[in-house]
Amino acid sequence: MITDITAAKDAALAHIDAATTVDEIVALTTRYAGKKGELAGLKKQLGGLDTIEEKKAAGAAVNDAMNAIDAALDERRSALKSAALVTQVEGERLDLTEFFAPPTRGHAHLVTQAWERLEDVFVGLGFTVAEGPEIETDWHNFEALNMPIGHPARGEWDTLFVDHVPPGGEPGTTVLRTHTSPVQIRTMLAEEPPIYIVAPGRVFRRDTPDATHMPVFHQIEGLVIDRNITMADLAGTIDAFTKAYFGPGFNSRLRPSYFPFTEPSAEFDIQRPDGSWIELGGSGMVHPNVLRACNLDPDEWSGFAFGFGIDRMAKERHGVGDLRDMYADDKRFVEQF
Ligand code: DAH
Repeated sequence: MITDITAAKDAALAHIDAATTVDEIVALTTRYAGKKGELAGLKKQLGGLDTIEEKKAAGAAVNDAMNAIDAALDERRSALKSAALVTQVEGERLDLTEFFAPPTRGHAHLVTQAWERLEDVFVGLGFTVAEGPEIETDWHNFEALNMPIGHPARGEWDTLFVDHVPPGGEPGTTVLRTHTSPVQIRTMLAEEPPIYIVAPGRVFRRDTPDATHMPVFHQIEGLVIDRNITMADLAGTIDAFTKAYFGPGFNSRLRPSYFPFTEPSAEFDIQRPDGSWIELGGSGMVHPNVLRACNLDPDEWSGFAFGFGIDRMAKERHGVGDLRDMYADDKRFVEQF
């Protein structure tokens, strides 16, 4: 009898130990610990034993076995339950890390980078930064710059007119500024010389976009008004700028040219260390008519001015083949700079 009890107990404990699901535990509970289970069956046979001693011994053994089986069932059940819980929680887990990952940091557009570096270099040379409106009067954009109505040079700036008539003004006299040069006029009207300013900004022309033209682009204007300013100051400033911006291996030159608002006028080029030249912009000595339009006496004050394209500069510097790429909003392009 004792042998049967022990065998039943060992079998039960082995099964319980091997159970892998809570459902199996339920089945094993019925099979071994239930009222109609194997141990209950053995317990019923106790009455058939011969001696009191045998009954006591077998009774104790059955109780021990039942206790051991109950304990084993309890232990295995709770172990399997917590394992099941872990599996369930793991399965339902949401990966929230993407919400906590720091957003990737962008950077300034390459034209903005060039704009800011140009400002830095000119501020380093003693200039301050000025600005003016993008919507201008015909007077500031042309007339005060020595281009009266009907002046043939106006045709060189493919002007976009704005459908706005200023109070007391004429129709067709409001424009999107075609260059940053009107900031010269605004600065001279607003400030007493000496003036040393650069004015970066957006300009507009009636142009069809192609590899080298955009209807909206950026220029930086420079203006110096002081006593006894000469063309040598212009050449020296351009050269100091060239070396500060591009590097000490670069040189600059002025080439005779024509602009209505400067006399004499020059285009300026810069020379790469390999000897090749890049055309950069226009410059010259501020025309006496421009000084007069701003109520400055040309016998007392003189100055120089220059202007060039920022986009073109960024294009050159980074070897961009097509200006349109710079504004196409394609991350694969933008992220390269
Ligand atoms: N405003 C001219 C342009 O858009 C560039 C320029 C030429 C600016 C000569 C100047 C200058 O200040 O002196 O083509």
